[in-house]
Amino acid sequence: MSEELKLSILNKLESENSIADTKTAFVDVSPETILGALKSLESQEKVNYKTLTTEFWTIEAEGQDQIDNGSYEARIFYAVPAGEEGITIAELNSKYGKVANLGQGKAFQNKWVKKNGSSIVRLVDSIVDQIKADLEVVQATGTHPNTNVIRDLKRRSLIKQNKVLSYSVSKGANFSTELRKQATDLTVEMLQSGAWKKAEFKKFNFDSLGVNPSGGHLHPLMKVREEFRQIFFDTGFEEMPTNEFVVSSFWNFDALFVPQQHAARDLQDTFFLKEPAVATELPEFWETVKDVHEKGGYGSIGYRYPWSQEEAKKLVLRTHTTAVSSQMLYKLAQEPYRPAKYFSIDRVYRNEAVDATHLAEFHQVEGIIADKNMSLGSLIAFMDRFFQKMGITKLRFKPAYNPYTEPSLEIFSWHEGLNTWVEIGNSGMFRPEMLRPLGLEEGVQVAGFGLSLERPTMIKYGVDNIRALVGHKVDLGMVETNPACRLDKKMGKEVFQSAVETAN
Ligand code: PHE
Repeated sequence: MSEELKLSILNKLESENSIADTKTAFVDVSPETILGALKSLESQEKVNYKTLTTEFWTIEAEGQDQIDNGSYEARIFYAVPAGEEGITIAELNSKYGKVANLGQGKAFQNKWVKKNGSSIVRLVDSIVDQIKADLEVVQATGTHPNTNVIRDLKRRSLIKQNKVLSYSVSKGANFSTELRKQATDLTVEMLQSGAWKKAEFKKFNFDSLGVNPSGGHLHPLMKVREEFRQIFFDTGFEEMPTNEFVVSSFWNFDALFVPQQHAARDLQDTFFLKEPAVATELPEFWETVKDVHEKGGYGSIGYRYPWSQEEAKKLVLRTHTTAVSSQMLYKLAQEPYRPAKYFSIDRVYRNEAVDATHLAEFHQVEGIIADKNMSLGSLIAFMDRFFQKMGITKLRFKPAYNPYTEPSLEIFSWHEGLNTWVEIGNSGMFRPEMLRPLGLEEGVQVAGFGLSLERPTMIKYGVDNIRALVGHKVDLGMVETNPACRLDKKMGKEVFQSAVETAN
């Protein structure tokens, strides 16, 4: 149909050279359809066109009523019988209601009728209903030669202004009466067959709004990480550099007073590097660490085994971010004493059986606080405040064991959905056997805690299988549409699910 219209526009131009007004040339075609055809022809430079605006007046419902039944004033005139008697005002009002109200004034003004006591009587024998006549002119022509009439009818809300768009059309630079299908893309087939040489290409439309580029979406884990970072920054923590994924066993274990026979240092638990397998050297205080493992010190009797440099040099994928904390505490001890609060959130690796809730890698959120006169109470008070910022108010602590902290506490929080206590982290006061060899002076205590980033993310986004969150099965649509995370606000499974559904 639009091809037909385009052709008849072109043919008309061929025979008449121009089209003065499409409104008269194509009476039955809507302005929108005409415009569509003209735009397409213009993009091929077959025509040029200009927009014409025609204003016209149409009759409103009340105007139509006056065309059909006469103006209100005329109706009042005809309601008054000829003769001295006339009609009483009361009767006129009760018979004609609204018309009587609206028409009387005008009928008086026109000197068609007058008051005679409580009656109304005619002043003339016949009248001309000019309003009705004027409305009929507007209805027939869309306007009226007398602009005062238009103004008056409009003021009485009897007519309404309207606009129509139409177009004047002339031949374009590429005018012809032939319509060829234009190619939009240069295709492989066109290149192979040589058809591109003869093809006519559609012009680029630089006014169209392109497709939104999709990119830069934060993974839910990174959203939750960002929330944790803000909570840490709010409470005055500095971020530790976590860009070293490979560390020596010395930093990952020995400096943390983890004995070399500890189960965590088994092949089954830790990823050891093959190439290079060992660090070239150990930090200069290694002998202090050796001594504390072998003989103890700082009130400890040590583990009493022969400590091996070779074992300490073995390179591993860090099994916890405490391997970063130990290095940061060492650095801190090299400077004059100052209290410090450090945090890190990054990946760690464990040689674990992979299942629905475990992968061989995950993220740890870790915080350490170094200060004097700290107690276990300080750590508990800090964790109460920290988790409160995440909207977690019910906490419980359970005595636990870590080689590098004493006392150690597992952190449990009450899970409303599961109606039970769930373990959310591990914490403790670092042992003097770890801190003193690092060089931290007596009287400086360090409290620390760690949790996984995956656990709160899975709870927050209602994911029950870690593979839906990490790995090759992750739905990228989910990553693009998942909502922002606020740890202190409730966000249910529904939000996440609906995000996933929107993506599909
Ligand atoms: N490193 C511990 C873990 O991997 C967490 C922790 C950090 C515990 C600091 C105590 C102090 O679970």
